[in-house]
Amino acid sequence: MQLSQQNELDKNIAELRINQLRQLITHHNRLYYGHTPPQPEIEDFEYDELFKELQELETMFPEFQTPKSPTQTVGWQPSEGFKKVIHSVPMLSIENKSAAKLITEVRGIIKELKDESKDIDIVAEPKIDGLSCSIRYEKHQMVRAATRGDGFEGEDVTENVRSIPEVPKTLPSDAPEIVEIRGEVYMSNSDFKQFVLRQNEIGASPPQNPRNAAAGSLRQLDATVTASRPLRFFAYAWGELSSPFAESQWDALHTLRRWGFKVCDKIRLMHSLDELNAYFEEMQECREDLDFTIDGIVYKLNSLSLQDRVRQIGRAPRWAAAQKFPPVKRETVLLKISISVGRTGALTPVAELEPVRLLGTTVSNATLHNQDEVECKDFRIGDTVIVQRAGDVIPQVVSVVINKRPPDCSPFVFPSFCPACGSKAVREPREAVWKCTGGLTCPAQALERLKHFVSRDAFNIEGLGEKNIELFYDKGLITSPVDIFLLEERLSPPTLWQQLTSYIPLQEWDGWGELSANNLFKAVRARKMIPLDRFIYSLGIPQVGEITAKLLAHNYISFDNWQDTMCRAVAKDSEQYQQLISISGVGTVVADEILSFFAEGHNLQVLNSLRQHLTVEDYSKPVMMTSTISGKIVVFTGELEKRSRKEAKIEAEKLGAKVASDVSAKTDYLVAGADPGSKLRKAEALEVTVLSEIEWERLINEK
Ligand code: IVH
Repeated sequence: MQLSQQNELDKNIAELRINQLRQLITHHNRLYYGHTPPQPEIEDFEYDELFKELQELETMFPEFQTPKSPTQTVGWQPSEGFKKVIHSVPMLSIENKSAAKLITEVRGIIKELKDESKDIDIVAEPKIDGLSCSIRYEKHQMVRAATRGDGFEGEDVTENVRSIPEVPKTLPSDAPEIVEIRGEVYMSNSDFKQFVLRQNEIGASPPQNPRNAAAGSLRQLDATVTASRPLRFFAYAWGELSSPFAESQWDALHTLRRWGFKVCDKIRLMHSLDELNAYFEEMQECREDLDFTIDGIVYKLNSLSLQDRVRQIGRAPRWAAAQKFPPVKRETVLLKISISVGRTGALTPVAELEPVRLLGTTVSNATLHNQDEVECKDFRIGDTVIVQRAGDVIPQVVSVVINKRPPDCSPFVFPSFCPACGSKAVREPREAVWKCTGGLTCPAQALERLKHFVSRDAFNIEGLGEKNIELFYDKGLITSPVDIFLLEERLSPPTLWQQLTSYIPLQEWDGWGELSANNLFKAVRARKMIPLDRFIYSLGIPQVGEITAKLLAHNYISFDNWQDTMCRAVAKDSEQYQQLISISGVGTVVADEILSFFAEGHNLQVLNSLRQHLTVEDYSKPVMMTSTISGKIVVFTGELEKRSRKEAKIEAEKLGAKVASDVSAKTDYLVAGADPGSKLRKAEALEVTVLSEIEWERLINEK
């Protein structure tokens, strides 16, 4: 093969992989940033690896770079329901690197800048594990608060943040006229414990950790709910300023404290790498004794003028770095390996462990994934094992401490029967999982399907979490999805049905009252209308996750049309089948799962009974966000003050504008920073509208 052909091939493979990685990362971003609480499917380090691979490929093949790549954006776009806020100074995240690497890089940059600054002082701050937020003050009054969102556009959470007692609502008169204070909204560990107790009391499923609790509490559409949650705020940075208020990060943090903000008292000003390394170790040791969760250390150049010179590039600023703590590991004993049965019948081995404290929570069980994992790592009942947890990531059983193995323990034998219904279990060739063959007769599968049906991205019925589903299932009151919509009729007093049966009204059940029963009925009623994509997702068809459900809804628009077409698509030579498999993202594997679902008479009964109680709304295609600059052609020139040209370009493209590299008669706006050069002259000659950076900001913020 000739070199050029080989190159072409590499390029094609790279393009495929780049697209695959972008889809994967976007999917994981979405699970993390688009959910309250976050619902990660993979570990942090796995995410980091995907991200790094994409970054490397984009560097090797710059022709595939695009501002839409997840390497160029931060987090996930804001959720619907909140008003959007464009950050006048983007809220970027910081790159993961050690203090040593930051210092070496900064030294390199200083050399390039031919700057003779001698000392590189660094402020080290605990990396608070909460939710970053930007609070804007105008004329010393708090006027707005926004979440980070994707770094450029966040959610307007003004009223929610106003209810946090630690957030000052007014600033002293020496603060600039306009100032945006940035920091972390979090829940303290002790408040979190109380919060979990209260959630348990009212039968709601409590969040898994303080971070999720903070995120879930802040992003409440009803701000009075936020007000009832014990949220706190640590200030550590700022965005737009009408005038500077400090010369160094250290002074700035102290000024923020003087203005009434809480600033973490573990911040330190360091003068050497040794000091920084010792601090990292010290904080790693004491992190579990703190009343707030931290997942690493943030290093920032102390001198603000040096920060300015070490310009921001791309996604992360170079004047700051974040170094994450390595996962915390502990030894414990593997007491039992139990088998859990999933919604699709998958049998998963679960380690039952002697309870062990890991980063503030007690771990007593962890998934062992599948038979191969158990065999490969040779986990045996009675073994001493190493368990690890990184941040808010799900605990993992990493390995066996082989020299502590009791003499009499034997390898684990994977069961060939379903523990819930006794049906035979099978493992298909090339599949990693064993599956129960009990299908609809297996109670564990039925229960898991019901839990999925009411889960957050499906029907999301408040007050009907996993625990209550189990309760109603055990009592025989909810065995099929439609029963959920019959609860009120069956359990609100007094009804004829109740007189004829032995059911006691829900409000008289242990742990329930009139209010909680009525709230549950109300929450169920509120979900009698549901968009088609959510409805499809809630059915729990294997392979049909949220994205596929959206694709199906997008293509078939109405519930009736979808069901009707799927029933016809059962014949593989039908036009309907061809149409189904031609939907990009729905291959034959997905199609076959959908058709098996429709081939099952019981499922059709479920659909028909649900149809009688629900209104499934037709899918409405999302409307593209319009902005004052959508469709306009924009050129940036000169040195902008608040953003690099690259960032300005990303921001403009997100708002629907096209960014060109040179001025032509078609250009709508030339945004000119300092030293604009020939483009400005050309624009003037062609009578193109020329805007300053401030005018540009005003234009994009216009509603
Ligand atoms: S500074 C441009 N300082 O960690 C720098 N961030 O990627 C802005 N965080 O998004 C951030 N504690 O949510 C900074 N003391 C601290 C922090 C901190 C936590 C979070 C923040 C940010 C992420 C870093």
